[in-house]
Amino acid sequence: LRAKEPVHRNFLGSWVLTRYADVKFVLRDSNFRSDNLPQRLKNKNSYLEDRHQNLNALVSACSKWLLYIEPPDHTRMRSLVGKFFYPEMVERLRPQIQHIVDELIGNAQLNNSMDIISELARPLPVRVISKMLGVPEEIQNQVYKWAEEISTIFDPLNSLSTLAHMNEIVLKFTESFREVIAQREKEPQQDLISFLITARNEGDKLSNDEILSICMLLFGTGEETTVNLIGNGMLALLHHPEQMEKLKQQPAIIQNAVEELLRYDSPIQGISRTAIENIEIGNKEIKAGDQVIVYLGAANRDPKQFYEPDCLDLTRNDNRHLAFADGIHYCLGAALARVEAQVAINTLIQRLHNLQLYTDTLEWRTNINLRGLKSLPVT
Ligand code: HEM
Repeated sequence: LRAKEPVHRNFLGSWVLTRYADVKFVLRDSNFRSDNLPQRLKNKNSYLEDRHQNLNALVSACSKWLLYIEPPDHTRMRSLVGKFFYPEMVERLRPQIQHIVDELIGNAQLNNSMDIISELARPLPVRVISKMLGVPEEIQNQVYKWAEEISTIFDPLNSLSTLAHMNEIVLKFTESFREVIAQREKEPQQDLISFLITARNEGDKLSNDEILSICMLLFGTGEETTVNLIGNGMLALLHHPEQMEKLKQQPAIIQNAVEELLRYDSPIQGISRTAIENIEIGNKEIKAGDQVIVYLGAANRDPKQFYEPDCLDLTRNDNRHLAFADGIHYCLGAALARVEAQVAINTLIQRLHNLQLYTDTLEWRTNINLRGLKSLPVT
């Protein structure tokens, strides 16, 4: 598609963009607004109301998510939360992340076999986010389950009953986190929730609902994506044993290696925007109101941008991939995801000997925008 029709109109009338330059342009151009998931959910509400159900809690929570708001609200909220996600701040979490990874692969080390997805990639991000937020221990297991469900919200093929179920989860999550906020108001700790409460009290005009929406957003955006990075990344290494051996011999190249794994098999393949003005791209007339899907995965394999793009090269230079998008909605958790993947992948390779894939059939999850495995058994 990228070579033959890089600006393509699909059967649903949406534009599909696959060239690196076009994708980057759209992500940086203010004529394109981020996808309006809250509006799409609102539209579905009318079908549910007949059955005495609704998506009101879900719509109200995600309407405040950074992803779906624009300046000046976006700038205000992002600059506040962003302080907690600076690379220097995240670097301080590295020992704690290493500790969680060691715990998770402890058993596997004894048996020298494991399912990387269910035993490591899935529990890791949710534990890290819980720790950052300061989720109390007694509700942690419950929160892990809710988080897993909330992270599937971006699947465009979610059925009405799945969404109605998610609405119930949002109600429970909200109730529980209101209590956590109240506790932190009384006794602040060194965590993100306490930090946001202080920011609110110091006049940054952050409402309680906004604090709640930030907590939910972090679980929504930070889980499935990180699972996919670790899963797809390990699969790429298993398919390229000479690259895995290079990393085993030189663990210091891990930072470069993770960038290449992000480019080679991107955890998020496509994201959506809406044009707010008529605009021409690649000799095609995109009209105001049209949906534009930019394929990060395709852009990251564009030969005009990357030398031998289909080749996995952990020492690749000048790797300006778009796996974390670009522009004002550039991934807030990029530094955190990087550290989690660096620690998880290096620890796996160093501790489990002679790693091999332990299945002939790989099953992928069905979300068309997020690319990730259901399981990855190794021995
Ligand atoms: C936004 C990718 C991990 C938090 C985004 C976007 C992408 C992305 C492509 C832009 C979405 C859009 O513009 O429509 C990834 C990948 C990850 C990852 C590939 C893992 C490998 C995380 C983590 C967190 C996080 C661990 C936090 C705990 C966010 C937030 C936004 C975002 C809050 C919205 C930023 C904004 O709208 O200003 N991410 N993400 N992400 N990501 Fe990530």
